[in-house]
Amino acid sequence: DTHDPAALRTPIVAVLGHVDHGKTSLLDKIRGSAVIEGEAGAITQHIGATAVPLEVVSSIAGELVDPDDFDLPGLLFIDTPGHHSFTTLRSRGGALADIAILVVDVNDGFQPQTLEALDILKRSQTPFIVAANKIDTVPGWNVHEDAPITQTYESQSDRTRQRLDESLYTIIGNLSDQDFSADLYWRVQNFQRNVGVVPVSALTGEGVPDLLAVMMGLSQRYMKEEMEIDVAGPGVGTVLEVKEEKGFGTTIDTVLYDGTIRSDDTIVVGGLNDPIVTEVRALLQPRPLAEIRTESRFDNVEEVGAAAGIKVAAPDLEDAMAGAPVRVVRDRPLEDVIAEVESELADIAVDTEEEGVVVKADTLGSLEAMADALGEAEIPIVRAEVGDVAPRDISVASTADDAKQRAVLGFSVDVLADAKRRAEIDDVKLFTDDVIYQLVEGYTEHVEEIER
Ligand code: GTP
Ligand code: MG
Repeated sequence: DTHDPAALRTPIVAVLGHVDHGKTSLLDKIRGSAVIEGEAGAITQHIGATAVPLEVVSSIAGELVDPDDFDLPGLLFIDTPGHHSFTTLRSRGGALADIAILVVDVNDGFQPQTLEALDILKRSQTPFIVAANKIDTVPGWNVHEDAPITQTYESQSDRTRQRLDESLYTIIGNLSDQDFSADLYWRVQNFQRNVGVVPVSALTGEGVPDLLAVMMGLSQRYMKEEMEIDVAGPGVGTVLEVKEEKGFGTTIDTVLYDGTIRSDDTIVVGGLNDPIVTEVRALLQPRPLAEIRTESRFDNVEEVGAAAGIKVAAPDLEDAMAGAPVRVVRDRPLEDVIAEVESELADIAVDTEEEGVVVKADTLGSLEAMADALGEAEIPIVRAEVGDVAPRDISVASTADDAKQRAVLGFSVDVLADAKRRAEIDDVKLFTDDVIYQLVEGYTEHVEEIER
């Protein structure tokens, strides 16, 4: 092995799936298992993410992961709340996540956000596996806490096994309907061609060793070259969320996917108007093992290296956009870095036409995904922006000559009260949804009605 392990960054693993299918529980289980294994201190809690080092992966996975077989430092899991679009997780030229886990509840099966997630995984060509979760709820299930799946599967009654198989084959069938060839993970030879399905329970930990082993193996096998980065170089990341934080003002929750960021760095951040140039005031990391979403107390850190989730406090971040790039300047000419951010923003920019519908979305990535979906449906766009639906969006839509185009489509955004009133007066149709294809469908049906 000729690689310096320090030169390989942690692969970023996005955990996605429909609301309540068990994404957070799965990560909680991994953190909890680390506590039992006496490895709690080794796990670091990041903003929106959990870093699990190789030693911990290996102690949870037992004989399924021999640390000597790997030289990647571990895995960084990003939890995406059900209603928050995975599309925010973008980086230059594509998906921010190197790899993904799509969580599907074995009882509930495929749901709108499952389909949405699959669609985005397809578009971004992100390799993924499916965690068929909640296997402990199969009637007659006999629990073997934290056991590998084969072990617990073998010791179930024929009846219970049959019931689980039925659910698993339904999921495999659903994947095939979406043009993904899938099978139970132990039957998959080539994970680039076939999607592996791992039966798990986030509650009992059954199958979690397998899940970690498969993720680690996949990353090592297919992703190692992409993990070879200039670990000490100026940091590059993506804004996950723009948030007010008591005592810090506006902060940006950022996923760093390259290089390092230091507490005295100057950074350039993509903004609603121009790139924002500002100086880091503080780098904030949640306290160890604390629940991130309710966490209000942070540790100040001097420096973090990729991959990591970190809250950055700095002046002038009010206009920062979710999904926008963040770049550390360090000892490079400022203009060059500004130009990099501008070109990156231009890559994401949506092509607009003279006439078309108005599109609003919560993040740059979701705006891009909306534009893709509308493009496929041959629906032109006149204006596309990040942000809530505001009166001026209605004004723009109301100028359309074609009745079909007097419409505003909002993805994961609110409609401001003034805008709602304006829309009624100006006879502009408003469509909002948290699922892209449903939004496009709603609009298409409206158009069909007009044409009828
Ligand atoms: P959102 O963040 O809202 O999208 O949901 P989520 O996907 O993070 O789901 P979460 O982990 O919050 O779990 C939802 C519910 O399912 C909770 O009540 C969990 O206790 C339960 N749950 C999750 N995993 C399992 C499992 O493996 N077995 C059982 N029995 N319950 C589970
Ligand atoms: Mg959750």
